[in-house]
Amino acid sequence: MRLETREPSGSDVRATIDSDLRAGDVRRTDTELRIGATAPLDADAFRTAAALAARSLRSEGGTIAWRAEDAEQVRAIAEGTAYGAYDPGLFKRDYANRSELTLALAAPAELADLATRQATIIRHLDAARDLANRPPNDLTPVALSAHAKSHGLPHLTVESHGRDWIEDQGMGAFAAVAAGSAEEPQLIVMRYDPPGAPADVTLGLVGKAITFDSGGISLKPSLRMQDMKGDMCGDILRAANGKTIEIINTDAEGRLILADALHYARDTGATHVIDFATLTGAMSIALGDLYAGWFANDDDFAAHIDAAAQTSGEHAWRFPLHPRYRRYVDSDFADMKNGSELRQAGAVLAAEFLREFTGEGPWAHFDIAGPAFLSRKRPDYALDQGGTGYGVRLIVELAQRFAAA
Ligand code: BES
Ligand code: ZN
Repeated sequence: MRLETREPSGSDVRATIDSDLRAGDVRRTDTELRIGATAPLDADAFRTAAALAARSLRSEGGTIAWRAEDAEQVRAIAEGTAYGAYDPGLFKRDYANRSELTLALAAPAELADLATRQATIIRHLDAARDLANRPPNDLTPVALSAHAKSHGLPHLTVESHGRDWIEDQGMGAFAAVAAGSAEEPQLIVMRYDPPGAPADVTLGLVGKAITFDSGGISLKPSLRMQDMKGDMCGDILRAANGKTIEIINTDAEGRLILADALHYARDTGATHVIDFATLTGAMSIALGDLYAGWFANDDDFAAHIDAAAQTSGEHAWRFPLHPRYRRYVDSDFADMKNGSELRQAGAVLAAEFLREFTGEGPWAHFDIAGPAFLSRKRPDYALDQGGTGYGVRLIVELAQRFAAA
């Protein structure tokens, strides 16, 4: 999708919200799109209406013209159009020849910069969805690092490290998960250091980027799994921060990768660390595919995150950390274990596990197992099955708050 900031012209299809229509209804003529929306007409209503408008023109392409009155509408209309215009058919024969959709956004002059910024966000939102939708035989770790290196942006450096380096660094947790695949693993490090960035803050963004859940597809029942260490006698790993982990469940592999990556981010200078991970089925049971659940060890940092989420409109709900949860990941053989016999509070236990690797300073963890990847369509923003790009908008808002501070 392309975004142009301008007044509508002759051949554009003009889109408006029509309060006489039922929410979700789309009426269309050659020159006009009218969309029903639920009251109140907040950012979410505009995002969904813009998505529906874009969806109705997605296959034929063309230009949709919207008028935005304020900053919130500029954001929502641009984002919604991108959601609705997104085509998940990356591997379809005609994908390269698909027709392009343009958004002609008329807005007060002082919002032109915001519209340009939104165009950038949308590009990355689409890219995040493409990555989530690419299958693991295509998007291997090496392909992912090639993608990271292909950005062409100033002040952004990317390096990546393979299996030997990961082992040499003592990242025993990461290395053990990577040993499950013949594909070369990659620790991808991106550093963005634009002129004028605040000197006292470094925001560390951490993800696990498991290209396919390496837990295996036909696992033993979880509660029996720990006994299977008898088959190969004692899996105990040492992570890069020196702590040891008893592996009682090979499917709880995401937290192992994050353990070493979180430590690395802190160790290489991040003052504020935040990770986003599709970490537990327990979180998607708790919140479904609409909200992410998050955790933070610092209320000040949490307040920034909360404000960023309010602006970005991504639904996020804070969960508790408490030292008394820690005993459920105590191990008799190592400093901790990567799962638990306790079947309750799985998402919290995962967060408590991660906390062991975050070093000193503010840290937050987003469990996006629900909203990151949909197993069925969702009517808001006309979302298809597959990757949603959850977190892209929130990260931008958060980084911008820090840059302005
Ligand atoms: N990637 C999964 C978590 C997940 C589940 C994400 C469903 C999205 C939807 C993760 O690797 C995993 O398997 N977690 C286990 C942890 C458990 C064994 C402690 C889980 O949630 O079942
Ligand atoms: Zn798993």
